[in-house]
Amino acid sequence: MEIDETGSQVSNGPVQPPSGEGRRSVSIIVPTYQEGESLPPLIERLDRLRSAGWDLEVLIVDDNSRDGTEEFIESLEAAWIRLIVRQDDRGLSTAVMKGLEEASHDLLVVMDADLSHPPESIPAFVEALSDGAEFVIGSRYVPGGSTEDGWGYLRWVNSKVATVMARPFTRVKDPMSGFLGLRRDTWLRAEDLDPIGYKIGLELIVKCRCTKVAEVPIHFSTRRHGESKLTLKVQKDYLKHIIRLARWKYPERSSFIPFAVVGAMGIGVYVALLAVLVPLLSSVMGKPWIIAIAILLTMCFNFILDRKLAFWWAGKERVATQFVGFVAICTVPVLVNFWVTTSFSADDQMVTPLAGMIGAAVGSVLGVLFNWSVSRLLLFSRPRRDA
Ligand code: GDD
Ligand code: MN
Repeated sequence: MEIDETGSQVSNGPVQPPSGEGRRSVSIIVPTYQEGESLPPLIERLDRLRSAGWDLEVLIVDDNSRDGTEEFIESLEAAWIRLIVRQDDRGLSTAVMKGLEEASHDLLVVMDADLSHPPESIPAFVEALSDGAEFVIGSRYVPGGSTEDGWGYLRWVNSKVATVMARPFTRVKDPMSGFLGLRRDTWLRAEDLDPIGYKIGLELIVKCRCTKVAEVPIHFSTRRHGESKLTLKVQKDYLKHIIRLARWKYPERSSFIPFAVVGAMGIGVYVALLAVLVPLLSSVMGKPWIIAIAILLTMCFNFILDRKLAFWWAGKERVATQFVGFVAICTVPVLVNFWVTTSFSADDQMVTPLAGMIGAAVGSVLGVLFNWSVSRLLLFSRPRRDA
């Protein structure tokens, strides 16, 4: 076992099968949907591990595939294989959670049914867990790991982009992997698990607050039977998942950053409104009124977006009160700005373009900080960890 530069551990080399007292018990969770054809070869390869001395319990969590899966498992009459057929629930993550809840051993492994994940790597998982890892990933992207040829360019790009998006949460090389190992005490630490996470490995690393994550190199094979369940919807869900994880792990930053971005967009909206409204309304009203209208409309724009993106926990209630409060809060830095600018203008020498720019930059940074913290404090009370 070596520690790589990202702090994750890479485990290499063959592992001797356990024997006698060292015999290790492992629960293997296999979520399935229409994997009838893949199950016989999977069970056969797992059974070979048993012959080598491993004590395995296999939990197949099937979402009512009706493709012969039930009949096949029943025909095996194997006490070490349990089939859980879910009638009402659907979805990969909840299936995995169900399997983890039902598992009876202290070492837990989650793997796909389609033979993309080699069961022969399970001993290396166990070794990593015994060496102190809290969580193990079967990884395509550490030395020794690989992906079978024939992965389309699109799927590869997809996987890379998704991996980069997971960087704020973990530095492991293959956080998208669905081949996982963990100790029961790690699993019991999980908080607020979110079933939208198709990437259950990433979800568990974050929500179990894992710091010691090991990566075991695997060869990821292309499935031979059936089809992938990864669709466009899965990618949309992944985006939602990343946002939820960010709000869970970094609640302050994921509120302030959108607030600052919306603030910057607001400046653009304000300038555009002036450009449109000044020529349109000059004949009917004075400049100060037009400016006031543009400011108010900009505040509406910011309020609507901030409520959704920066203060996402704000419910449906109290919109009117919040709007009035929001306008009042935004007005404070505006008035301060106005006062500072006019008092400097008294002395013409003071207002050079550079000083003006610096003033505006400092003013907007302070303004954004002020608006955000006061809005949070007075209008949108702190989020609970349930976003
Ligand atoms: N019970 C249940 N319910 N199982 C499901 C469901 C579901 O709704 N959807 C998928 N599965 C099972 C499949 O039967 C399979 O055993 C496993 O979950 C993975 O599904 P695949 O359809 O084979 O996924 P994939 O090959 O596109 O994705 C693989 O690669 C990803 C990394 O690129 C999986 O290993 C993913 O876990 C991994 O993230
Ligand atoms: Mn697959």
